[in-house]
Parts: sequence; C-alpha cells; structure tokens
Amino acid sequence: MESGSSINGVDKHPWAVSEASWTYRQFGIGGYAGQGDMIRAPIRGRKGHGILAAYSINEIDDDSRVVMLTKLLDAREQGAHVLVIEPIAKRALAWWAEWQDRFMAGGGRADEWRFRIDLPERQRLLGRSAGLDPRELTARSLWM
Ligand SMILES: C[S@@+](CC[C@H](N)C(=O)[O-])C[C@H]1O[C@@H](n2cnc3c(N)ncnc32)[C@H](O)[C@@H]1O
Repeated sequence: MESGSSINGVDKHPWAVSEASWTYRQFGIGGYAGQGDMIRAPIRGRKGHGILAAYSINEIDDDSRVVMLTKLLDAREQGAHVLVIEPIAKRALAWWAEWQDRFMAGGGRADEWRFRIDLPERQRLLGRSAGLDPRELTARSLWM
C-alpha cells in the first residue's frame, strides 16, 4: 500500500476485527478495524479511495445485498474504486450474475483467479481436510 494510505475495516465479529487489525499491523498498514454492521457503516466514495468487500457479500441476506450494491455503485460514482472478492464455490452464487452485470455496466470487470502455492504443512493438511485443493488459492472478483 502506498505510503500515507490507511485502512478502515469493519466486521460484525470481534475475533475477525482483532485478526484484521493484527494483519494490518503485520503489513505495516495504518488504520484500524472496528466492530459493526457493514450495511449501516458509512461508505464514502471519493477519488483515491478503495473499497474492498472480502468474503462478506455472500454472508448477508438478499435485502441487505440490495442495500450494499446500491452503496457500492454510489461510491464508484463518487470516484472510489470497488473490489468484491468471493470464493469460487462449487455451488453457484445466485446473486453473482446480477452483480457482475451491474459492475460491467459501470465499466468494471469480473475475473477468476488461480494461484499455485506451496503451503506450509499445517495449512496444507487443514485445506485438504476441509475438502479443498491445498495446491492452489482461488477466488473470483468484481472490480469497478
Ligand atoms: C468468510 S468471513 C471473511 C472475513 C474477512 N472479511 C476476510 O476476508 O478474511 C465473513 C465475515 O463476514 C462477517 N459479516 C457477516 N455479516 C456481516 C455484516 N452484516 N456486517 C459486518 N460483517 C459481517 C462475519 O462476521 C465474518 O467475519
């Protein structure tokens, strides 16, 4: 992250909040994570701001997703960049196609990612026992 940048994270769960704050510190990123509901969190779009919704949009209900989509599209209109990341699930995400259309209509893009990786033994075993392929990291993303 370029110097002078900072992050402002939000999650409902205190454990996730403290993990996020720990991670920011490990990467030397300024800012903090706080406990809260992303649906109510103020999302201010502004040129030079980036908004990341990581593995979170699939966690909320359909009505909340409508609210979040509107907020993210508004933020883009105000000049922010928006990135949504979700896992590549075997079962299709019912909401993804509509979100993809809206992001593309706003000049954005949709991608799927696969990175080969050599995980440490413990993570490799954990991944395998969770039914994942521990030889690669995968994700899908929407960007605008
Ligand atoms: C799969 S975890 C992802 C955590 C983190 N964003 C990451 O990328 O590592 C999903 C997270 O969404 C959070 N969550 C679910 N609904 C939420 C909401 N309405 N507001 C804030 N966080 C929420 C859960 O507490 C959980 O930590």
